[in-house]
Amino acid sequence: MMNTLLELSGVSVSFDGFRAINNLSFQIGEPELRAIIGPNGAGKTTFMDIITGKTRPDEGRVIFGEKSVSLLKMSESQIARSGIGRKFQKPTVFEAQTVRENLAMALSNPRGPFDVLLHRKTPTGAHRIEELAAEIGLIDHLTRRSGELSHGQKQWLEIGMLLAQDPRLLLVDEPAAGMTPAEREHTTDLLKRAAQTRAVVVVEHDMEFVRRLDCKVTVLHEGSVLAEGSLDHVTKNKDVIDVYLGR
Ligand SMILES: Nc1ncnc2c1ncn2[C@@H]1O[C@H](COP(=O)(O)OP(=O)(O)O)[C@@H](O)[C@H]1O
Ligand SMILES: [Mg+2]
Repeated sequence: MMNTLLELSGVSVSFDGFRAINNLSFQIGEPELRAIIGPNGAGKTTFMDIITGKTRPDEGRVIFGEKSVSLLKMSESQIARSGIGRKFQKPTVFEAQTVRENLAMALSNPRGPFDVLLHRKTPTGAHRIEELAAEIGLIDHLTRRSGELSHGQKQWLEIGMLLAQDPRLLLVDEPAAGMTPAEREHTTDLLKRAAQTRAVVVVEHDMEFVRRLDCKVTVLHEGSVLAEGSLDHVTKNKDVIDVYLGR
């Protein structure tokens, strides 16, 4: 039996009277890889904003870890420090620094590479840097300036910087956007490996990418779960076909 790491129940949030998240319930185990799909505006990004504390729900519970702490009582930085990492669509690596320096900065603080850039600069663990670089496929690029990397490589570096902080839950929003087919393949492999030891939630539109992730899929629609199960299971669901696939 896998332990539940994160549980949302009865979560709702409205923006100017519009219910972006509507009585949403969701659970993920540890370790687990989960894909979230759904039409534009379904609430996928808002769902991640709620978990990371960027958006506060009007109702509901968001419970994390074996001590069942409520994330609703924590600040964004407390949530990040408690082991929830998030990768946004646009990579935010330090372009003037090398791949090695970026990873070293991420490693020299348990959570929060930006804090390190501002306050501490002690690179740690050459071995761990190389391990991470190998993990993300950048072992031959350690001395390159990050600004010279391809879009896909920057995304991997950012994932590596998040993995350096060893999150228990990693949230990744639309990683495949702008990637070549080969980069997409590498990214699915990377996320699958990362999810062997932690919970990873991936929001993605690209069905081929989701198929390669080969994991349980949650379909969001109008801020609620419309269907959940294997990709084959949810893509046969009539409601899913009507609101998402049929269009
Ligand atoms: N901060 C916000 N203020 C107002 N409306 C928002 C805000 N964030 C999201 N929304 C609205 O909530 C809905 C869900 O958005 P979002 O979570 O970004 O969807 P998705 O990521 O599934 O495309 C959309 O209608 C969006 O316009
Ligand atoms: Mg979105």
